[in-house]
Amino acid sequence: MPFLDYMGRCLKHYYSHLQAIGSEGDFVTAPQLGPYFADALAHALAPHLADCPTIVELGAGTGQLAVDLLQQLEQLQVLPKAYIIQETSPSLRAIQADRVQQLPARLAERVQWGLSDQIAGLLIANEVFDALPVERFIQTAAGKKRRGVDYKQDHFVEVTLDEPIDFAVPEVEFAEGYASEFCPGLGAFLDTILPYFQKGMAWIIDYGYERQEYYAPYRPNGTLQAYFQHQLVSPFFKPGAVDLTAHVDFTTLAELFIARGWRIDFLKPQNRFLLEEGVLERYPLTPEHYALKRLLDPRLMGEHFKVMRAEIAF
Ligand SMILES: C[S@@+](CC[C@H](N)C(=O)[O-])C[C@H]1O[C@@H](n2cnc3c(N)ncnc32)[C@H](O)[C@@H]1O
Repeated sequence: MPFLDYMGRCLKHYYSHLQAIGSEGDFVTAPQLGPYFADALAHALAPHLADCPTIVELGAGTGQLAVDLLQQLEQLQVLPKAYIIQETSPSLRAIQADRVQQLPARLAERVQWGLSDQIAGLLIANEVFDALPVERFIQTAAGKKRRGVDYKQDHFVEVTLDEPIDFAVPEVEFAEGYASEFCPGLGAFLDTILPYFQKGMAWIIDYGYERQEYYAPYRPNGTLQAYFQHQLVSPFFKPGAVDLTAHVDFTTLAELFIARGWRIDFLKPQNRFLLEEGVLERYPLTPEHYALKRLLDPRLMGEHFKVMRAEIAF
């Protein structure tokens, strides 16, 4: 089967049953590392809530960011009218609902699940676009071929399918044997979200690169990774029980936003975003705030993660 289908099936199973993110799960995300990430986002969102009073969070994981953000915004005295979570995983929706119920009623009552009406809103998504299935390809002498998955001697292996792939990155010449990936479902995914926004601003946070760096010669096998209990494993280890993820091509993502009428305001490393939002002024880098170092350090999450902001009708 095409790798895209394999990854799609694995991720559907994985996220439908996921019970934990953080030390008890397979991976850690920024909201699990303390109040810092929500603090910076609260300061970024706050000035725009008067114009756009609904917050929409895609793929809210355990609900940690939602609860932290609502509490931080309350301290800043700028609460959203509604906080809408768009989440596909039933197990995570239940965990989110449980977390939200622990908030004071004045905050919990603002949280809803599922977009249904046109809004003026602020969209946030942390580590969601990297959780979409990707197509793998390899450059051969006979052109770019699709990668697939076969089952041989009791385990899955990656194979090259004799199928050309209609993936073209004009400015990039690939050497023979160069393999990488792209996300063909990105536009369709945006089409389930962006049409709800009459006016809005979006903060997309994820690890990824602009196209030239994504398809750099020194990255000859793409960005696909598999995590099981915080260990890097083969993408064919325990199918459906392992987190599969690929970096985001922010150039393509930006082009897709632009094609839907949005404007790109900036794309910057996560550490610059956090610093510019003043996180160190409120949380000095002391041993007590050690996790903040992980978010800022360029060798850890500081530069691999980017923040892209886009807006429409502002
Ligand atoms: C890597 S987790 C990140 C969770 C959370 N944002 C965080 O930072 O902890 C990916 C999240 O995206 C959700 N997700 C995956 N595919 C999705 C889709 N097509 N639509 C909405 N959410 C999706 C997952 O269920 C999960 O909540």
